[in-house]
Amino acid sequence: MNMLFLLLIIPVLAIIYFGLLFWYRERGTKISLDFNRLKDTPLYFSKDFLWGSATSSHQVEGNCKNNNWFQFESAVDEKGHPRISNGQKAGIACDHWNRYKEDIQLMKAVVLNAYRFSVEWSKIEPKPGEFDEAALDHYEQVVDELRTNGIEPMITLHHFTNPIWFEEQGAFLQEDSPEIFARFVECVAGRLGSKVKLWCTINEPTAYAFGGYFIGLFPPAQKNLQTAAIIMRNLLRAHTAAYTTIKKIQPQAHVGLVVVMMIYDPPNRWNLLDVVFSRLLSRNMSDSQIRYLTEGLFKYSIPRLASVSYKSDVRDTFDFIGVNYYTRFFWKLRPFGKRKLDIVRNTPPEKLTDMEWEIYPEGLYRVLKLATRYTSKPIYITENGIADDSDTKRAKFIEDHLLVLNKAITDGMNIRGYFYWSLMDNFEWAHGFEKRFGLYHVDYNTQKRTLRKGSRKYLEIIQKSQE
Ligand code: BGC
Repeated sequence: MNMLFLLLIIPVLAIIYFGLLFWYRERGTKISLDFNRLKDTPLYFSKDFLWGSATSSHQVEGNCKNNNWFQFESAVDEKGHPRISNGQKAGIACDHWNRYKEDIQLMKAVVLNAYRFSVEWSKIEPKPGEFDEAALDHYEQVVDELRTNGIEPMITLHHFTNPIWFEEQGAFLQEDSPEIFARFVECVAGRLGSKVKLWCTINEPTAYAFGGYFIGLFPPAQKNLQTAAIIMRNLLRAHTAAYTTIKKIQPQAHVGLVVVMMIYDPPNRWNLLDVVFSRLLSRNMSDSQIRYLTEGLFKYSIPRLASVSYKSDVRDTFDFIGVNYYTRFFWKLRPFGKRKLDIVRNTPPEKLTDMEWEIYPEGLYRVLKLATRYTSKPIYITENGIADDSDTKRAKFIEDHLLVLNKAITDGMNIRGYFYWSLMDNFEWAHGFEKRFGLYHVDYNTQKRTLRKGSRKYLEIIQKSQE
C-alpha cells in the first residue's frame, strides 16, 4: 500500500516541481550568441544614432558641498568606519565644472556626438524655492558649448544627490516630494528647455532606493525593504511630475526615465526556490518600473518583507526608456539561514570587472528583450561600461556589448543611442576614486586626462558604423 502510494505520489510531485520550474523560468534566459558570427554582421546603426558618454554632477564636477553625499562622505557607520572606502571625499573630483570646455574636446577627439550629464540640484536650488542664476548660467554655457561642437546634450535632472535641505525634510519619503522636485525641474526646463531636447528625469530609482534605504551603501544608510519600496514609488511619481512639467514648457522635448536593468539569474537552474526568487527580483526591480511607465501601475511585493502598490491617474508618461546595463547577479534566498540573502559568486576572475561584476554582454540583449515586451518606444542605453584599471578588458567589453546592440537593432528593436559610462574616471560613490570606468584615465594630482588604449575600440566602431 505504502509502496503503491509512493509510486503514485513521486511522479505527481515531480510533475508539479518541474511544471512550476518551467513556468517560473524567465523566457529567453538561454541565449547563446556567437560573437565571431556577430563580428561578421554589418553594422546597422543609423546615421543619427547617438554615440555618447555619460557622467553625473557629484562624480565629476567638484565642489558639491551642499548635498547629501557631501554630508555622507564625512559620516561613519555603526562601527565607526568611514562610509566611503578609505574615507575618501569627492572634493574637486575631476574639476569638470571648470574644465568642461577641455572635456568637450575630449569627446570630440573620440568622435562622440552626444553627452549625458546631470545638473546638480543643490547648486541650482541651494535653499527651498531660491534659485541660483549663476549655476543656471553655467549649465546653459555647457549646453551652448556642446551644441557649438556638434554634441547633443542629454540632461539628467536627478542623479542620486539631494540638496541638504531636501534631505533634512525627509527627501523622497515625503508625500509631496514629487511636487518639490517638479518645482526645481520647472526652473531648469524654463531656462534650458529651448536648447535641450533630451531629458532624463530620475537616474535609477532602484539604485537610489535600495542603495540608500535597504543595503545602506548610499545616504541615508537605512536598512528597511518596505521603506525602499515606498521611496521607489515616490521616485516614479516624481518622474511623472517632472515629465508633465517639462512637456508643458517644451512639448517637443523627449523625456524619459533611466532604469538600471540587471539580469537576475538563479544560482542553480534546477532549484525551484532559486528560480522563483530570481523571477521575483526581476519583476520587482525591472519590470515594475517599465509597467509603471506603460500602464501607470506600480507593484512591489516580496512576501512578508515589502508590499507597495500604486496606481497613477496618468499613464504613458515617457517618450523613451533609458536603460543602464552592467551585469548579472545570482542572488540566493536562504529562508532558514543566518544570512537570508546572499550573492553567489562563481565567475572566473578573467570575466570579472574591478567592481567584481560579471562581464555578460548577452545580458544586454536580454534586458532589451524585456523592455521591448512592454513598449516599442525608443530606447537609449544611457549607461554601460567597465571599471578596469589595468585596461586589459575594456576593448573587448565595448566591442561585445556593441555587437549585441547591433544584433538587437537588426532584430527590430528601437534603439536610438549608446552612452558609455563614463567619459573619464570619477568618484565612484561608496568606492571612492579607486574604480576606474573612464574612456579617459584621470590623474587626480594633476587633473591630466589620457585616452586609454582600450577606449580606441569605441572610436573604431563608431567610425566603422558611419562608413
Ligand atoms: C550609476 C553611476 C555609477 C555607475 C557605476 C550607475 O548605477 O548611475 O553613477 O557610477 O553605475 O557603478
